[in-house]
Amino acid sequence: MKIRDFGVEMWMNAYENDCTYNLAETCVESLTVGELLDLAGCREQAVADLLNMKLTYGAIEGSERLRALIAGLYEKQGPENIVTTHGAIGANHLVIETLVEPGDEVISVLPTYQQHYSIPEAFGAKVRILPLRAENGFLPDMDELKSLVTNHTKLICINNPNNPAGSLMDDALLQKIVDTARAAGAWLLCDEVYRGLTHEGEAFGTSIADLYEKGISTGSMSKTFSLAGLRLGWIAAPRILLEQILRHRDYNTISCGGIDEYLAAVALSCKDAIAARSRAIVTGNLTVLEQWLDGQPKLSFVKPKAGTTAFLKMEFDMKSADFCLGLLRETGVLLVPGSVMDREGYLRIGYANTPAVIRQGLEKMGEYLAKLPV
Ligand SMILES: Cc1ncc(COP(=O)(O)O)c(C=O)c1O
Repeated sequence: MKIRDFGVEMWMNAYENDCTYNLAETCVESLTVGELLDLAGCREQAVADLLNMKLTYGAIEGSERLRALIAGLYEKQGPENIVTTHGAIGANHLVIETLVEPGDEVISVLPTYQQHYSIPEAFGAKVRILPLRAENGFLPDMDELKSLVTNHTKLICINNPNNPAGSLMDDALLQKIVDTARAAGAWLLCDEVYRGLTHEGEAFGTSIADLYEKGISTGSMSKTFSLAGLRLGWIAAPRILLEQILRHRDYNTISCGGIDEYLAAVALSCKDAIAARSRAIVTGNLTVLEQWLDGQPKLSFVKPKAGTTAFLKMEFDMKSADFCLGLLRETGVLLVPGSVMDREGYLRIGYANTPAVIRQGLEKMGEYLAKLPV
């Protein structure tokens, strides 16, 4: 099976370990194991549990405790609606692999995480792109979505909050998308890996799994919970679909790691404390970014409402990859060029890293932009 290169992942693989200021990072500054156990107030108990843990495959669908805690992130999901996966990346892949067959029609927003359109395309689906535009606040246009949906639409893929734009669909808009999907009988996959990082108001917005009988939510410990190294994600979906997904999962997962699941359960048992820490980091950094942008005539943005990333529009004529490579070489600052996310003319910036890294990186980038002959 041929598949397109995963632009953003290849970019990160190539450069993220060589930069000084990682402004491409999307995970909220990661926790150490010690920090996690202290936040949860269970250091001694956890050490004893882990030392005694027998490293078998463990619970195949995910431990009962963890699945109950994950279900607690939703209004209407029980443990029977949850299966653990290798990150949200594994969750998305499993959902698409289970649902999509050659000739199916799939709709995906763009920009988004590339899995949502490149995997269906590789499986032989006809993929239709629903563009998210700055003039709409990077939200889907419902007339455009309706014009793309047919009776053959198998799956609609959305991403809420959106990576890279940080846009957030409210309940009214989600409901309209659900109505459209329902009219076509389509499944609706919402990648909710940044859920819990709404900047103002309720941190955890409405999940598609709670809104629609064919709604599928994918999530993980990586972003909101600052634990990407656990490589632990999940799918929340109707049991009838999970039964099919499990048949695929037997071929590529067996089970997730017992230590990972244990630590994920520790984190979710103090989810409010971790989510509050994450929210404080991203909202503080976003204020710094916004103030910095005020003095930057060569860049503009639609201010993100959620998540950890913003999509900066380049108000000058240059290939985004050329700009990013020059910036990295001259200053050590890493961004992601829009071209690797199929949106030339933009730069993705992550504002989830250590505040000092964000401040210093922006300062270096400002000096570089001022000298740029454009
Ligand atoms: C929208 C989106 N979905 C999924 C993933 C994969 O996350 P995980 O670390 O949970 O596999 C990412 C990572 O950047 C992402 O941005």
